[in-house]
Amino acid sequence: MSVRQDQRFLCHPNLTMPAERRIDPLDGSAYTYDESVAFYTGEYKKKAIEAYWNDMKVLKSAAKSKAKAKVKASDKIKDLQKAYRQAQSQVSKVEKAFVKAGVAPPADKGGRQGDEEVPNEFSYYLNPDGKQRERFQRETLTQYIITSTRGDKQLAMLFNSIQHACKVCSNSIERAGPAGLYGLADVVNATGDDVKKLDVISNDVWVSCLERCGVCAVLVSEEDEEAIIVTDKLGGPYCVAFDPLDGSSNIDCNVSVGSIFSVYKRSSPSSGPGNVADILKPGTECIAAGYCMYGAATELVITYPHGGKGGVQRFALDPALGEFLYVADMVMDPKGGKKIFSCNEGNSLQWDQPIVDFVEKCKDDGYAARYVGSMVSDVHRTLLYGGIFLYPADKKSPKGKLRVLYEGFPMAMITEEAGGVASTGMFKGKIQRILEVLPEHIHDRCPIIMGAARDVDAVLALYNEQKK
Ligand code: AHG
Ligand code: MN
Ligand code: MN
Repeated sequence: MSVRQDQRFLCHPNLTMPAERRIDPLDGSAYTYDESVAFYTGEYKKKAIEAYWNDMKVLKSAAKSKAKAKVKASDKIKDLQKAYRQAQSQVSKVEKAFVKAGVAPPADKGGRQGDEEVPNEFSYYLNPDGKQRERFQRETLTQYIITSTRGDKQLAMLFNSIQHACKVCSNSIERAGPAGLYGLADVVNATGDDVKKLDVISNDVWVSCLERCGVCAVLVSEEDEEAIIVTDKLGGPYCVAFDPLDGSSNIDCNVSVGSIFSVYKRSSPSSGPGNVADILKPGTECIAAGYCMYGAATELVITYPHGGKGGVQRFALDPALGEFLYVADMVMDPKGGKKIFSCNEGNSLQWDQPIVDFVEKCKDDGYAARYVGSMVSDVHRTLLYGGIFLYPADKKSPKGKLRVLYEGFPMAMITEEAGGVASTGMFKGKIQRILEVLPEHIHDRCPIIMGAARDVDAVLALYNEQKK
């Protein structure tokens, strides 16, 4: 029986028990119910009150610290919200500065606009969160041209004409089969190669686009023996060398081909027509260069180091829009990338010993051999995957096969801008950068060794060893 029940019992008016003396069986002491109740009730109350307060103390302190934590957390959130608002206002200030400077602001993730994966109809499956940029949010080549030329309308006009020439060539190549454009044109070009129908068409497209744009003084085409001096309105401030269709031996079997170009600033006075000296300069004078690859997709790769953010940019033609859309910056893997060597080994019996030794070493080191036979495609792969592309000098062709102005210089400039190395190897008694070659005539040739520093440097080391 609990003390509490005792109490109720003792309070009953008919009971006399409180007065009755009892003996405690344990210690023999005498007590009445009243005395017992007074004792136990007092003890109970004391203990209950103590226990209650002890409980309350714990609860109170827990509630207090909970409340304190709440206050702290809300302060923290407030601080974060404040920092976020400040950062946002900074971003919009910087964005406004970009707009004022006529330059496209970079994308959210720190790269240029469109650095993220290319959105397409598979985007949902690849990224259900939908964080990718839509096609209409990507930078177009036209936008790139406008921003990178920074108000130089003539250069913008020139780049735009190149863009247009590439689109027209791409379309002709796409339709070549049904349009009956495969096969030879029954002529031989300036450098003695058989000319294909598509070589002729591409050349007409490029010459026409560049002549008509009104900003070129001198044009050099692989397909024209002489430089074209633009006399209409005395031309303009720029000169362009181009290979309208590179890899023409691959045209008839639908393997990727390309166009290559390099741009120079005219140095002759604008009061008269331009001349060959305006373009017959070392590659270090080249102000912009690029190529367009007509492959499974058409891709235009351009470098204009003085404009925008420099480096090399890739744009792919979206056939549905007829517009080149930014894909990514072309940056070579500084470690050298995939182990690939790319050359026409059919010429190996004529090669210099260092080239023979290098290629043998590649095989020993587990390198893969890849060779399309279109410089544009072989260099494009080298830039993206890594390794080395070579068209070296040999005993039969001491200058190699590829042309300086419209193959060597533009590809060397792009390779260097993408972080690679472009060398002639041993050429005219010295090892030099391709860009330092001084062409003797507009269709001059030079040996080409370009790609990752890891591999190009290895070739040059073998040449240096041979010298000793
Ligand atoms: P083009 O078609 O403009 O004459 O250039 C062909 C070049 C180049 O694209 C390629 O790298 C090289 O020729 C291939 O030469 P080989 O057929 O001798 O390997
Ligand atoms: Mn070529
Ligand atoms: Mn060609």
